[in-house]
Amino acid sequence: MHITAKDLAAIIPPGFTLGVATAAFQIEGALDEDGRGPAGWDVFAARPGAIVENHSPAIACDHYHRMPEDVALMKQLGVDSYRFSFAWPRIQPKGRGAVNQAGLDFYDRLLDELLANEISPMATIYHWDTPLPLDEEGGWLNRDMAHRLAEYAGILAEAFGDRVARWVTINEPATVSANGYAFGLHSPGKELALGAFPTVHHQLLGHGLAVQALRAVGVPGEIGMTNVYSPMVPNSINPLDRVSAGLMDLAQNRLYADPVLTGKYPDLIRAAKFFSTFEHPDEDMETISQPLDFYGLNYYMPTKVAAGPGGGAVPASMAEAMGSDLSAAGNGGTPFHVETWPEADITAYGWPVKPEYMAVALKEMGERYPNLPPVILTEGGASFEDIIVRDKSTNTRFIPDERRLKYLSDHLETALRATAPGGMAESVDLRGYYVWSLMDNFEWSAGYNQPFGLVHLDHETLERTPKASYFWLQELIEERDLAAEATAAVVRAVAGDEAAGEVAATAQG
Ligand code: BGC
Repeated sequence: MHITAKDLAAIIPPGFTLGVATAAFQIEGALDEDGRGPAGWDVFAARPGAIVENHSPAIACDHYHRMPEDVALMKQLGVDSYRFSFAWPRIQPKGRGAVNQAGLDFYDRLLDELLANEISPMATIYHWDTPLPLDEEGGWLNRDMAHRLAEYAGILAEAFGDRVARWVTINEPATVSANGYAFGLHSPGKELALGAFPTVHHQLLGHGLAVQALRAVGVPGEIGMTNVYSPMVPNSINPLDRVSAGLMDLAQNRLYADPVLTGKYPDLIRAAKFFSTFEHPDEDMETISQPLDFYGLNYYMPTKVAAGPGGGAVPASMAEAMGSDLSAAGNGGTPFHVETWPEADITAYGWPVKPEYMAVALKEMGERYPNLPPVILTEGGASFEDIIVRDKSTNTRFIPDERRLKYLSDHLETALRATAPGGMAESVDLRGYYVWSLMDNFEWSAGYNQPFGLVHLDHETLERTPKASYFWLQELIEERDLAAEATAAVVRAVAGDEAAGEVAATAQG
């Protein structure tokens, strides 16, 4: 069982944002339209075998043509905010220089539509769709990419700075470096193992330069970045397992968070041989660690780590869902491996469902980084196979996705309790939670087989059908607003209209 929407609503603090998230390449389709240039992902996805069942991103959710319908779904849902990403190849088809006006126009319309519906826009600048010409120059292996990202960020700041409330520079650099450059599971499909390391630094530098570009234009919106975080849990109390979990923690969490939040790579990384194979002057570290208005955290699951060779750093169940035979460079070659969690419920992706580790993630972040800015959970969600129930008498469809609904309710509840006064992560100033995802979409190398949506997408007809989890979130938001109104009424009775107005205004994120 999970907490009722009403009880959950009662523990949502004033000003906390409830939102939904997507990314351009996963939903837009229209890859050859209105001057969009090719992306590295277009080419990678066309490689036979790269995507499960060779699913194509060409149409995805057809959001490019159905944007107003999708915004209407969000309006009906009642969310405070929508996190989307700009498609770099739509804005700058060659990745540098010339800007494609038709690309800007699409996001102009999206932003206006959101604001007209009182949905606050949170925009990700880079969610993995690198313009192909930049990938051909080495992509993130090339230091110049960081400057290209900054140039692109400056264009976005000029065009949309007046309307974007929150900016995320880069989404999950860890996934790009590991899946894209170390293990070959994502575009650009490189299997460089430790040779992928420069891509970490160049993305982080790109983040820092993008922050500078946004600030140079003076955008009023808040600026942050998003890292994925998975608590690393040793398989046993065996010291070797604990060391292995520590190494995974370094490689997947601290490698990306430490430079941004402390201005330093972890000591063990700095001591490693590969650290001297690329340029990383001190000035870079200052750029990377500029103060942020918020820190974005994507939390999906913890990782159980054991010493010794095994499936490698990508869990077997997940690699299988991505169509990989696990032969990729580096995976399997690691001195430790990811273990399964036999007692845990698992998602269709093979991910363990462990809401209690949401609290661990927040606690570890709070303990490790004394200067942690306010945190926003920029993604969280689960893929489960959905069943469509048809009611012939009314000709309606119903999707009872109880497991996704429970996943979301449990994770949000855990995060709220952990960061409340007296909670295990009370030092963390948590400001919001964005559900991944608004609708079922192109789940990278897992194609359309991993549905994360609150809204079901029929990939034949492109029909959108809200699932039970959508109605749950809708009810939660309604309950929250009712509770806020009730509080305002009490304040009005005691302290007058002005104070009540303030209470009502801060209740919405
Ligand atoms: C990414 C999303 C992805 C989701 C589920 C995150 O790593 O930011 O693009 O769809 O997780 O795998």
